[in-house]
Amino acid sequence: MGRRIIGVKDVAREAGVSLGTVSNVLNRPEIVAATTRTRVLSVIDSLGYVRAEGARLRESASRVLAVMVPDLTNPFFAALASGVERAAREAGLSVMVCTGARDPAESARHMALMSSHQVRGAVLSCGEGIGTTVSAFRRNAVPFVVADQHAPQPGASSVGVDDVTGGRLAVRHLVERGHRSIVHVSGPDRLQQIRDRRRGARAAVTAAGLAPTALRELSCDGLTVAAGREAGHRVLALADRPTAVLCANDLLALGVMQALYTAGLRIPDDIALVGHDDIEFAGSAVVPLTTVARPAAAMGLHAGRLLVEDTCGGGPREPRHVVLRPELVVRESTGGCRSAGAGL
Ligand code: RIB
Repeated sequence: MGRRIIGVKDVAREAGVSLGTVSNVLNRPEIVAATTRTRVLSVIDSLGYVRAEGARLRESASRVLAVMVPDLTNPFFAALASGVERAAREAGLSVMVCTGARDPAESARHMALMSSHQVRGAVLSCGEGIGTTVSAFRRNAVPFVVADQHAPQPGASSVGVDDVTGGRLAVRHLVERGHRSIVHVSGPDRLQQIRDRRRGARAAVTAAGLAPTALRELSCDGLTVAAGREAGHRVLALADRPTAVLCANDLLALGVMQALYTAGLRIPDDIALVGHDDIEFAGSAVVPLTTVARPAAAMGLHAGRLLVEDTCGGGPREPRHVVLRPELVVRESTGGCRSAGAGL
């Protein structure tokens, strides 16, 4: 006997609300009280309810994949989307790009868009909105693969980068260049990939036999150039100025670079700088930026190929997890490449 199909009535009964309220949570969540919406969504996830439209959708999926990113102002995500587009093209499919859901109302609008375009599946790289988005995709039975962070829930394939190694590579490089006073301009703790970079950075300080105070932290709630400029002003205001700054991503590093440069500091002579990502502009900055390359296009390509396997083959397969290695790219902002054996 197959598993009974969970319907809207089951959800309404379990959540103690009317059928109309369940319908509003799915279609117009912005008009439902947050506590009620959260309770109903939790029941939907726990019962494994899938909308009838979503189930029908799988039968008539189109030739379109979606890729959802937090924003397109960070070139990192444009590169990731280009990798997904390459995987789609290999399979004769096309790609629709949309920016990530910051709230349930936006998530509902995304699902309506996916349904109207009969999207075959999506690569999700949504940062802190990933939980809301993954639940919405599950409810609508739209296949997905998570990119640039560890799968937030069981059953989802993922492609990520080993950010702990990335943080370790950055600090080991600065220590090898003689730095013993480093400030880490870190990003929002909400993101696992940011926490991993910090963990790797701290591990490298310990591995070098240095005191933990060799790596001080300036926390930053943004990951943008503007947030970097603000952090750069805080670095300049430090009584005990560091000799090097490690930033959670390249946009922060470019903002810090602008603030230090405007204050008349020379990079790297007065202060060295390292980022994460290796976006397009890192190498073309006024002082080319040393950074930890995080292969965004390769991540998108792997995630796109996993999604094509799940949606164009004989149905979803067991979750697969791909972890790519970061790579240190040495440029002028830490003194550039040196011949082997050059002294510190
Ligand atoms: O979303 C901001 C950052 O997180 C990006 O720069 C990239 O590093 C991602 O992992």
